[in-house]
Parts: sequence; C-alpha cells; structure tokens
Amino acid sequence: MPNPFVYGEVVPAASFVDREVELDRLTGDLLAGQKIFLISPRRYGKSSLVVQALRAAAKQGALTVDVTVSSYSSYVGFLEGYARALLGIETRIDKARAWLRDMLGNARPEVRVEPNETGRSQLAVSFPSARTEQDVSRLATEVFALPGRIADARKRKLAVALDEFQAIGAFNGGNVEHALRAAVQHQRQVGYVFSGSEPALMERMLGRSRPFYKAGPVMRLQKIPEDRFADFLEARFRATGMKPVAGLGAAIVELAGNLPYDVQRLAHEVWDDVKAGGRRAVSLDDLHSTLTRLLGEHETLFEGTWQRLTLAQRAALRAAVLQDGRELLSADTRARHRLTGASTVQASLAALVREDLLTREGPRYVVVDSLLREWVARHTF
Ligand SMILES: Nc1ncnc2c1ncn2[C@@H]1O[C@H](COP(=O)(O)OP(=O)(O)OP(=O)(O)O)[C@@H](O)[C@H]1O
Ligand SMILES: [Mg+2]
Repeated sequence: MPNPFVYGEVVPAASFVDREVELDRLTGDLLAGQKIFLISPRRYGKSSLVVQALRAAAKQGALTVDVTVSSYSSYVGFLEGYARALLGIETRIDKARAWLRDMLGNARPEVRVEPNETGRSQLAVSFPSARTEQDVSRLATEVFALPGRIADARKRKLAVALDEFQAIGAFNGGNVEHALRAAVQHQRQVGYVFSGSEPALMERMLGRSRPFYKAGPVMRLQKIPEDRFADFLEARFRATGMKPVAGLGAAIVELAGNLPYDVQRLAHEVWDDVKAGGRRAVSLDDLHSTLTRLLGEHETLFEGTWQRLTLAQRAALRAAVLQDGRELLSADTRARHRLTGASTVQASLAALVREDLLTREGPRYVVVDSLLREWVARHTF
C-alpha cells in the first residue's frame, strides 16, 4: 500500500484537497482567454492548482503548456524553452518543424530531434544567432506571438501557465514584461496564468506604472481550511488500513502551521513510521516521535541556519517562536525575551523575513518552516 501523502512535488489528484472554488474559477478564466495572476507565499499549492486547472481545461478541449520561468538561467534560454514547450503541443515532428519554419523562421532557429521525458521525440530549438540585445528582443516578440498563432492554426483554445513568473524580472528588466504584455493582450483564444511565490515581487509587477497593471484577474491563494485538511488526513489514514486517534488530523495541521507542504510532509512521515513499526493504530505519541525523528534529521541544516544569524536575529526569531509571532515590539515582550530596542527588533524581523525564515500573516510573524519553529523552541536558549 503506497503512502497516501505527497509532498515536494505537484500533488496528484488523489491527494488534492479543497480548492474547488479556485479550480473552477481558474479553469473558467483560462478557457475564457483571461490573463490571470496567481499569487501566494511558497508551498501553498500554486503549481498543484495550476496543473489541475490545465488538466480541466484540456478535458474541455484546450491545448495546454506549462513552463517554469525560474528554471532558466538566461533570457534566451527561457525563450528557447518556451518555444520548445509551445512546439511540443504538436506531437507530429514533421508538423512541428513546419510550424517552426512558418512561425519562427525569421529567428533562424537551430533544430534537433531529441527524446523527451516520456521517450517520445520532440524538437529541441535553439537560437544561436540571437546575440545583441536587439536580436533578443526581436526574438522575444516572435516567441511571445507563438501561442496566438498556434491557437489560430489549430483552431483550438490554448492555456499557458508560466510558473515562478516573478523570475522574469531578472532576465531583462522591464523589457520582458512590456513585450509579453503587448503580445498576450491580443491573443483572445489564449488564457494565461502567471503564478509566483514571492508575493512582494508579484504585487509590484501589478503596480500602476507596470505593463501588467490591470491585465486581468488576480487570485491570491489562501491556506486550506484547517478542518477540511484535518478530515482529509484522517480519511486517508483510514483508507490505507490505519486507525488514527480522534484529533490526529487537527494535531498534524496545527503542528505544521497549516502550510500545505508541511502538513503533507508530517502526515507522510508519520504514516511511514507507523507502517514500518507494523502497527495500525496511530496515536499522538506516534506523531511526536516522528516529529522528534525529523528534527534530528534536520539538525545540521537548522544548526547552520542558526549560526548564520546575528545575535539580535536569533533573539528575535526565538521571541517570534515563543510569542506565537505576536506583539514582538511591545516593551513587555522585549523585556521578557531580553530583546534590545524596538528599532533593532524591527530590523532583525525584517532581515528574517528577507531570509525567508519568517513571513507576515496579518499582525503575526510566522516561522515559514514549521520544523524550524519546533527546533528553535526545543534546541535554542
Ligand atoms: N490542494 C492541495 N491539497 C493537498 N496538499 C497540497 C495541495 N496543494 C499543495 N499541497 C502540498 O503542498 C506541496 C507544495 O505544493 P506546490 O508545489 O503545488 O506549491 P507551490 O505554491 O507551487 O510551491 P512553490 O512556491 O515551492 O513552488 C505539495 O507537494 C503538497 O504536499
Ligand atoms: Mg510551485
């Protein structure tokens, strides 16, 4: 019986919880040719939601393309990868070649046939002649026009996902945003979802003076409701022949700070430990012994993180853990945790947020990684 909990990758449909409203909306918007921004902190489940939406759109007849912007180390590399993914829609190699000639001929592409992940042949495209900035921006204009031309050629709707979209800013400053926005706004048959995990960068991209200002709907993904997640966990334990104690689901969700990734990680590891012990009943003690094991396995990592912090940052992080992230600047809190002046604490908190160790949730500062939170609570003084 395989472990029913999945983390560290896009979740399969069977482990996908909640998000019905978001999924319907995203799918509908993509099919309607909207340009959607999808924003949340890391590990909330954007990529998983996008994959589900693309699948749903495909079921309704759309062609789909999914590209992770942050995996490319240069602008031209991204354009090559994007062009390749778009040409991959056409599975017949001869046809894809013809598309390439018709649609990107001016960019003088070099083409090889190579196997893709599933072993099928696909075209690998490169643009060696794009050297100057001007060449590259001409190339970008052509590549960004491709989705519209493909939708026309195939007389089908197209749904394009550009994941980790905040990384686009690193390629070529504002030019990429301008070129892309200019292209997509004319593509009525093509829905786009631009998803990104650095909310501050993504929000800035939507600012008044930026190309994507009012380009389309914005979805800000929230956490999954705690009770839904807890019920799902217990149901999956039961469906795989285990007997979770009442309240186990809620305890996992709480310990994991209800971060989808952390919830699935903790559930996955508990399931493994109970299975390895040849048992069926799952108790709160099981949960705690799994947690202790995980903390041990992360010791080196967390120790390294801790060592890199200044004393003031360590104190601020500890206070955030012990105070549940509340009232960190008050005189009372600072006295209790031996913190120095409010402005130093403020600067430390800001640094911890920049380092992605803390995040703001309303008035609270929350430790991003729930295991780090437990480690700080137990192993630092
Ligand atoms: N709807 C969901 N139901 C259950 N678990 C989920 C759901 N969405 C995400 N998860 C859990 O969170 C993990 C991270 O999800 P995903 O990679 O989709 O998030 P992300 O927001 O794209 O993260 P990143 O910012 O790291 O790219 C998944 O591997 C899974 O364990
Ligand atoms: Mg992702």
